[in-house]
This record gives sequence, C-alpha cells and structure tokens, in this order.
Amino acid sequence: MSKLLVTGGAGFIGSNFARYLVEHTEDTVTVLDKLTYAGDLTTLEGLPPSRVMFVQGDICDAATVDGLVRDSDVVVHFAAESHNDNSLSDPSPFIQTNLIGTYTLIEAARRHETRYHHISTDEVYGDLKLDDPARFTEETPYNPSSPYSSTKAGSDLLVRAWVRSFDLQATLSNCSNNYGPYQHVEKFIPRQITNILDGERPKLYGAGLNVRDWIHVDDHSSAVLAVIERGRIGETYLIGADGEKNNLEVVETILRLMGRPANDYDHVNDRAGHDLRYGIDATRLRRELDWQPVYRDFESGLAQTIDWYRANEAWWRPKKAATEAKYASVGQ
Ligand code: NAD
Ligand code: DAU
Repeated sequence: MSKLLVTGGAGFIGSNFARYLVEHTEDTVTVLDKLTYAGDLTTLEGLPPSRVMFVQGDICDAATVDGLVRDSDVVVHFAAESHNDNSLSDPSPFIQTNLIGTYTLIEAARRHETRYHHISTDEVYGDLKLDDPARFTEETPYNPSSPYSSTKAGSDLLVRAWVRSFDLQATLSNCSNNYGPYQHVEKFIPRQITNILDGERPKLYGAGLNVRDWIHVDDHSSAVLAVIERGRIGETYLIGADGEKNNLEVVETILRLMGRPANDYDHVNDRAGHDLRYGIDATRLRRELDWQPVYRDFESGLAQTIDWYRANEAWWRPKKAATEAKYASVGQ
C-alpha cells in the first residue's frame, strides 16, 4: 500500500486515475489541485474520504508542494493547462503551470528522494503526415507545434535532465487523445455530444480530416499504474491503443449513435497550426510491461461516454455556456 500524491486530480484524467486506484489498488491518494476553470471538486464525489484526500493549492507554490511531496511515496503529476485552443489565445498560464509547476514538483521530489511519474502527451513529437505509415515511438525527435505542446515538451525535458543530473527517481509517459467520463466540454468529443444534447450541430475545424489516436481514459490509467509499478527509472513509455480516426469519422459516429443524420454538422474556422495526425506505437509498453487496453472497440466506448453525458448533465451544464461563448468569439 502506497501514499500517492496526484496533482490535477480534480481534472479529467487525474480524477479518473484516482477512481481507478480506489477500484484496483489499496493505495491512498492525496489530490493537489488549484481548481482552475478545468478543475471541479464534484468530479471526486463518491470516492471514499478514507482513501482520497483533497488539498486545494497551486503546484507552483513551493511550500505547499514541499510538505505534500515529503509525506508521499509517489508523485503522479497530471496537473497542467491542457487545452491547445486556450494556449493560442493566452499562453501565459501554460508557461507558469506546465513549466514552473513541473520544476517546483521535481525540485521537491529531488529533495525528498520521492518517486516521481510525469504525465505527458504525444503532442511533444509534433505531427505526422496523413499518408505516412510511420507512428511515434520513444525515439521520435521532439518537435512541438503549439504553446501547449511546447510547454509539455519543456516539462518533459526538465524531468529527463533531473534524472540525469540529480538521479531523480522518475518515469515519463506520453499518451494519445483520451476520451471518457468527466472530460471538460471544451474538448472535441464532449463538445459534440453536449452540442447534440442541446439541439446544436457539431463543429468541425477545417475539413475535419485531422487524425487523432483515441484511447479510453481507464486504459490510460492502467498503463500509468503499470509504469509506476514496473517501469524502468529514467525511461519514457508511449501510451496508445491503436485508435486512429479522423475527426469527421468521429463526428459521424457520434451523430449516428445519437440518432441524427450523418451530415448534421458545421465546418468552422480551423485551429492555427493545427497538427495533422498523431499515431502511437506502444510496443515498448506492451512488450516490456505486458500492458493491454481493455477498451478495444471505440464505438462501444463512445456509446458509454454518450450515455454518461446524457446521465450527468448537472456536471457539465455549468461549464457549457461560457465554453461556447469563447468558441463563438473566434468563429469556432
Ligand atoms: P484537465 O484540464 O481536465 O485537468 C487539469 C487539472 O489540473 C484541473 O483539475 C486543474 O484545476 C488542475 N490545475 C491546473 N493548473 C494547476 C496548478 N497550477 N496547480 C494545481 N492544479 C492545477 O486536463 P486533462 O485532460 O485531465 O490532462 C491531464 C494531464 O494529462 C495533463 O498533463 C495533459 O497534458 C496530459 N494528457 C492529456 C491528454 C488528453 O487527451 N486529455 C492526453 C495525453 C496527456
Ligand atoms: O494528443 C494528446 C492531446 O489530446 C492532449 O495532450 C491534450 O491535452 C488534449 O486536449 C488533446 O489535444 P487535441 O488538441 O488533439 O484535442 P481536442 O479535443 O482539442 O481536439 C481534438 C481534434 O478535434 C483536433 O484535431 C481539433 C478538433 N476539434 C476540436 C474541437 C474542440 C474540432 O474539429 N472541433 C472542435 O470543436
């Protein structure tokens, strides 16, 4: 039984990870979260208080971070500014949280010799061409495109340097696009589901041909747990479940599953610098750590996710109007 510090645990993936730990381990979890617009304490409702504690605080606050890291066996660092579109309108919180926040955490982990796992993204590798058979591997050179992905790349490089220079006991994982319950309505899949529930049409950036490699959030959690338990210190593991789909296919599937005509969507302004395609080769994770995804059928995972948003309007409704107003102001 370990004591885990989960940063960003009131957000989408961090909260699903906390729930996954409660169901699959004996570990106790302390969530450290600033509760930005993306954090929501109700996301943790129903988890046993004896297993999941909550601290509201900023990962850039060295005093708060120091005490919590000192009292933990493992730090799992999810907290971030996570949305590309926001990073294009205002990069400054991305610099602060993703770079300074990571620096603050790894300095504390170094001082207290605490095991550290760094959560990152496939976007650090830039993008692939649509007709390229290649996928990202752990050896692909870093080439990030957006303010968001460049700050994530910078945070990865800080962790790697702390491993080499200070013997930080760290692992890293870079995952593809997650879907599932509790994802903020600013993100692609929840935005389209909640638009349809509101009688609005889904919004596709540009032609809709950009490809993302979808993985269910519970499969991300099981992979992170495998890396924490069995990963080699200093190593990076790519996480993906062979789920490449273009955005148009995803919108058409959502429309069909929700009983609407397949062409009932709008094309809107494209994203500046929009990455064309992501694709993950997760051979290292599968072979070395014997990991496998549980959600192999995207359509049934998507159907479950649609059901979740139908049943949990009270969770997403307070976020919807402000999110759509922001999109409308930039023609998206
Ligand atoms: P999210 O935006 O849903 O949640 C982020 C959480 O971090 C929120 O609860 C927020 O309040 C908290 N936070 C932000 N700044 C903070 C600060 N300064 N101090 C403390 N807490 C702060 O994000 P997500 O989609 O759950 O992503 C979590 C992590 O996973 C991020 O590191 C992201 O880069 C990475 N990731 C996401 C995906 C994806 O598809 N969403 C894929 C790969 C990797
Ligand atoms: O690849 C991992 C990354 O996946 C994570 O690091 C990020 O934190 C996460 O937000 C996600 O980034 P994307 O930019 O790929 O996700 P997003 O949900 O914003 O968009 C997915 C695709 O859908 C992308 O090609 C843009 C497009 N899109 C998005 C929105 C919100 C649309 O076509 N319409 C939309 O309304």
